[in-house]
Amino acid sequence: MVTDTTTGSTAYPTLFSSIEIGGVRLRNRVAHASIVSRFVKDGQPTDRLINYLGNRAKGGAALVITEPVAMTFANRQTDRLRGWDDAALDGIKRLADAVERWDSRLLGQVQDPGRGRHATGRNEFAYGASALPDDLSWTVPHVLAPADIQLMIEQWAAGCRRLQQAGFSGVEISAGHGHLFHQFLSPWSNRREDEYGGDTEGRTRFLRELIQAIRAATGRPFMIGLKLPGADAVPGSLDMDETARIAAALAAEGEFDWWTFVWGAHARSLYLHMPGPAGPRAPYLDHIRSLRQAAPDVPTGAIGYITDPNEGEKALTDGTADLIFLGRPLITDPAWGNKARTGNEAQIRYCVSCNTCWRTVVEGNGLECDNNPRVGEADEVDWQPAPAKKRKRIAVIGAGIAGLESAWVAAARGHEVTVYGASDEAGGKTRLHAELPGGEHLSSIYDYQQLAGKKHGVKFELGTTVDELNLADVQADAFILATGSTMSAPAFLPQEYVDEGFVPDLRALMLSLRGRSTREDGRIVLYDQDHTEMTYAAALRLADHFSKVTIVTPRERLATDVLLLNRQLIYQQLFDRRIEMVTNVEPAGVDELDEARLLLTNVYNGDTSELNDVIAITYSTSRVPNDKLQHILTMAGHETHVIGDCYAPRSVLAATRQGYQTGLRI
Ligand SMILES: Cc1cc2nc3c(=O)[nH]c(=O)nc-3n(C[C@H](O)[C@H](O)[C@H](O)COP(=O)(O)O)c2cc1C
Repeated sequence: MVTDTTTGSTAYPTLFSSIEIGGVRLRNRVAHASIVSRFVKDGQPTDRLINYLGNRAKGGAALVITEPVAMTFANRQTDRLRGWDDAALDGIKRLADAVERWDSRLLGQVQDPGRGRHATGRNEFAYGASALPDDLSWTVPHVLAPADIQLMIEQWAAGCRRLQQAGFSGVEISAGHGHLFHQFLSPWSNRREDEYGGDTEGRTRFLRELIQAIRAATGRPFMIGLKLPGADAVPGSLDMDETARIAAALAAEGEFDWWTFVWGAHARSLYLHMPGPAGPRAPYLDHIRSLRQAAPDVPTGAIGYITDPNEGEKALTDGTADLIFLGRPLITDPAWGNKARTGNEAQIRYCVSCNTCWRTVVEGNGLECDNNPRVGEADEVDWQPAPAKKRKRIAVIGAGIAGLESAWVAAARGHEVTVYGASDEAGGKTRLHAELPGGEHLSSIYDYQQLAGKKHGVKFELGTTVDELNLADVQADAFILATGSTMSAPAFLPQEYVDEGFVPDLRALMLSLRGRSTREDGRIVLYDQDHTEMTYAAALRLADHFSKVTIVTPRERLATDVLLLNRQLIYQQLFDRRIEMVTNVEPAGVDELDEARLLLTNVYNGDTSELNDVIAITYSTSRVPNDKLQHILTMAGHETHVIGDCYAPRSVLAATRQGYQTGLRI
């Protein structure tokens, strides 16, 4: 076992104090929440998964929960670890070794989606409590008979025993998030009339029997943790009172060791389980403190966008929780714990709650992060890039997130780097997004990049536009061109409106509204050919300034390029602000006689309609790279790397990844 020899006081004495739970000692209170990684191939952990979990343990998490392990044959999938199969034990042992060697305890997750499904279409193999549709996919499951339930319980318990033999310290049963056990707990999805349905006693029976069977198979010490549903925001399902009754019923038998509570369900409220893009950080602490009163002695974990060690420390000292679970924040920085403990909080790369990580796994790719281009690399915790063979003077033109990422990585390799930015502040369009409702957390991306840049000696020439006229003044051995992109004016706008600046693009409009508190009576039309988060964040800001906001798009719905979870939140906010959405239309143009009328054409049948009271129009459209300097630089024979939107318009994830790769390569 590798022991931590770092000494010294910490600003978070409770967060970094040890605790014994269920006879298992934890060296601190930092826990890694379960995260599906898509780093499993053919039922076996890849090296990437072993790195990923090992890095979180090495980086300071005393408790690490795996992603769901298939422990019954029915529950098998090729991208799940094979807890049901003795032949797969070696791979699972490697995982246990990778975590336990850091004096961290590894727990496997017991989870079954039941009828739950995110993808389009139905799941014909689903089973569940009652023949009722999943709230998202409308999958109607096969109803489990009591004998099926008994068989599953036996197999789960045997699977947990197998994990114990492989060196795991316990398991966590995922009974929230709208999955199978949640479906049994909820009176909305469980309408059974046998012993597994009905009142709280009946609906908790499956889970209670499962816990007892696991305990009988594994004995003690072997941690059994419960991830329970808090209020799930589904009408007729679980509210705070019923979840408290469920918690009390489970605690009465005393066979598990700790619990956590999570929000939302596999329904329109799915987004609640990963809070953050709008609203405060750590939003569930009051609810958790209240739910733990169902059995105050049960050790309690707090989950839900806890990013700051101060928040964690406070939740421990004010009696909310005994453990702090971090999901996304540990994807972004595996060394969150070590950095907080040793007074290096400023070096933490913070989660920005963009939920790109979720998107990458739902789309079936390996886990990635907008603010950590190295998820699952071997040396992720205390990474230092290898020094460059030849030290160069590098000019990075453009101070957006692609340019900044390339700059600090190149400087960390020993290059002499200068960043030129036209604006007085670094961050590019991400900074603008961070000023809009729900974008606030994004500032952590460029704040970290600037800090890392300064640490490695990057010079910042902000407020300096580099163009055709002064490019020759920039002395460098290599150039990184990261000059972003500009929205193209849509064809329906008369050219003079664009030339005269009557109709600004959405970014220009947001800049002009900065710091203003005006509110105009009339309609602003936002033409949406973008469908990413920033457009809707800007629409919310427009609702502060205009009495009516109408979004017009040729697509079937809004936010098609946004993952389901974030799209739910966007729709919630747009409806809350009474923002009008008009789909399947293209603007045909402004009425020549009455400029307050915008004419629309249905994209399918050509029918026309109109919007009245239009006092302003703006657009969020496909972007065109600002790559004018590329030609000049390459013609002059300079080593030139074109990145970010300037290469081709792209997401935050693609921009930071490309910046990182360029910084490593140059
Ligand atoms: C990419 C991703 C995958 C997740 N996979 C699981 C999972 O398999 N099982 C589970 O119980 N929770 C899963 N979660 C939820 C997290 O464990 C956690 O409850 C949630 O992210 C809120 O915590 P956070 O705000 O610290 O991220 C996942 C979350 C993310 C972002």
